[in-house]
Amino acid sequence: MATSGSTRNKTITLSDNEIDIYSRRLLTPDGPVDRKQIQDRTICQDAFQCLRWLPEASVDLLIADPPYNLTKAFNTHTFNKRSGADYSDWLESWIKELVRVLKPEASMYICGDWRSSPSIHDVCSRYFKIHNRITWEREKGRGSKKNWKNNSEDIWYCTMSNDFTFNVDAVKLKRRVIAPYRDAAGKPKDWETQNSVNTRLTHPSNIWTDLTVPFWSMPENTEHPTQKPEKLVARLILASSNPGDMVLDPFLGSGTTSVVAKKLGRRFVGIEMDRRYCCLAEKRLEMAAANSRIQGYYDGVFWERNSGDQQARHATASAAAEPPSTPESPSPPPAGRRRQQELFS
Ligand SMILES: C[S@@+](CC[C@H](N)C(=O)[O-])C[C@H]1O[C@@H](n2cnc3c(N)ncnc32)[C@H](O)[C@@H]1O
Repeated sequence: MATSGSTRNKTITLSDNEIDIYSRRLLTPDGPVDRKQIQDRTICQDAFQCLRWLPEASVDLLIADPPYNLTKAFNTHTFNKRSGADYSDWLESWIKELVRVLKPEASMYICGDWRSSPSIHDVCSRYFKIHNRITWEREKGRGSKKNWKNNSEDIWYCTMSNDFTFNVDAVKLKRRVIAPYRDAAGKPKDWETQNSVNTRLTHPSNIWTDLTVPFWSMPENTEHPTQKPEKLVARLILASSNPGDMVLDPFLGSGTTSVVAKKLGRRFVGIEMDRRYCCLAEKRLEMAAANSRIQGYYDGVFWERNSGDQQARHATASAAAEPPSTPESPSPPPAGRRRQQELFS
């Protein structure tokens, strides 16, 4: 565990002064709002109060990471575990409000765990077309003496209609090739050698094992107890939206959806009832304006976990191919070194 004085601890924190500053940027509607008013904003309010004020058919992509059916404290507020039927009722009470806000071509992703997944499936099947359930491996997880350690989470993928965006080429995964087969002419079959490593771009499946839950030495980490990895949200946004589209997250937490949407050139609006978490989201949005890097997503592709060495070699090789800077353009640090610094910072 890092101490707060550790130089490797990159957790984003808030001072009292920052809370004052960021609080002033938050929106709390008390009546209907139009798209321009909410665009790129954080709404600090109970989603149940706020959803009815949002403009009709204004959202292209919904990413919802609600409290799971567990007793969990979120700073000033605790979500209490309930029966499966009551959790379904709770889900339905906000999902049915969202239908009005989503465009007919919208897509949605709803997060859960094995316990809340049956309720998500049940409610979503009443309102949306369900396409898939993504299961992702979360490395963190408490061991149990009498049960299997829970190391997985689900994301349900749905759309409003059969007319929807799915950019598969934007979410390919760069993988090391274990068996580098060649065709009869000796040419590589679907793989290439880059900087002495054989890699292949693969289609993403519905099992994701390349994610790291944010922890103290990652620059995206905050105090939020259930923060999602930026890499995970990037994959959802790239697959199911286009630049300029509007992305909504009604349970924003520390701001991951809005931050990634901003980094990828999408519009966004996030709703979160806890002021402190809203301020963390605002601070992260400000940081994203200065640095749009997403850990694990580099040069337009997703890289395997712990592939930093491969990414660095790739960065150095592509930097060597860049033209040298001219006297008219002031020279930054050598691009290879700059990119390597970004990769490992
Ligand atoms: C699972 S967390 C979301 C974490 C987020 N994906 C992130 O990466 O930080 C759920 C969030 O929903 C918020 N929340 C719970 N009930 C809410 C409500 N009725 N309206 C708005 N926010 C709510 C909690 O405060 C919590 O931050």
